[in-house]
Amino acid sequence: MQRIGVSGIKLTEHELCFAADLVDPESIAISWRDIGGLDETIRTIREKVIFPFKRRDLLVGSALIRPPKGVLLYGPPGCGKTTIAKAMAKDAGARFINFQMSSLLDKWHGESEKRADALFSLARKIQPAIIFIDEIDSFLRVRNLSDHANMATLKGQFMSLWDGLITDATCQIMVVGATNRPQDVDAAILRRMSSKFSIGKPAQVERKNILGIILRTEDLDETVDLDTLAGMTEEFSGSELLEACRLGATHRIHEIMRNANKSHLDDIYDVQIDSLRKMSMADLILGVSEVRQAKYGISGQEFSNLVLD
Ligand SMILES: Nc1ncnc2c1ncn2[C@@H]1O[C@H](COP(=O)(O)OP(=O)(O)OP(=O)(O)O)[C@@H](O)[C@H]1O
Ligand SMILES: [Mg+2]
Repeated sequence: MQRIGVSGIKLTEHELCFAADLVDPESIAISWRDIGGLDETIRTIREKVIFPFKRRDLLVGSALIRPPKGVLLYGPPGCGKTTIAKAMAKDAGARFINFQMSSLLDKWHGESEKRADALFSLARKIQPAIIFIDEIDSFLRVRNLSDHANMATLKGQFMSLWDGLITDATCQIMVVGATNRPQDVDAAILRRMSSKFSIGKPAQVERKNILGIILRTEDLDETVDLDTLAGMTEEFSGSELLEACRLGATHRIHEIMRNANKSHLDDIYDVQIDSLRKMSMADLILGVSEVRQAKYGISGQEFSNLVLD
């Protein structure tokens, strides 16, 4: 509790099951500045979600102006949903409960239900708090007959606990979920997440923006052209752009290893690296081509030749 900056609160045995999922907003390294190409979405989230959450004092004039109690971030993999949730917690100054299914489930009958209660009572004790459920489709998916009876009860209980938050205007708790399969999330859950944000694949200008953020701390030579890179990374997600840049950066080290011409494979670990040369456009294109190869099966060399010509 000290680690997350809370003192004078006693937790029950069941609440303690979630202790490992607690994150102090101060310790979150991610901020809005680290997220590229989503300026409009971020602005809306800040205006419609974070502002009313933080400034409840200003919202006294109307009973209808309230922060949402549920927020859903949905969209294809690797485009920044989890990253946005972390930045939200930091910006909101809220304690972050990074809900893990494993903290809830217990093999003993009735134990999981007690833990579900404890999750919400813990959030009340440490509020302002955000309960973050990543990959929410895997936990609160469409209910069907093949569901284990216990699981069905647990979902029902979760929803009624959540309703408790919704009707209690004084509590400062928000449930944030992320999924890349919104069609698999239970309709009753979707309704409780009144604010929904689509986090889509970045278009060309957005990719340029993301590349600028990923490469801002790197030593680049004058050949690097972000516009061109953004143009050749059609259909890439943020995490694929990151991977391409990472591979490009690492390429310089492989080059040193290869030039060292060690006779025995084990000797490559002794290579001395005094300084790395600046990263070039060719390095980055190589990174892009490797990601493309993994993605579409086009040979990396084939692609490199194509764009370098
Ligand atoms: N818009 C972006 N700006 C900067 N970096 C990004 C962006 N999108 C993704 N990334 C990078 O890709 C990594 C993966 O993104 P993140 O985990 O947020 O994706 P996600 O949408 O939650 O994916 P999944 O659906 O697979 O969980 C992040 O750590 C981040 O470094
Ligand atoms: Mg994620």
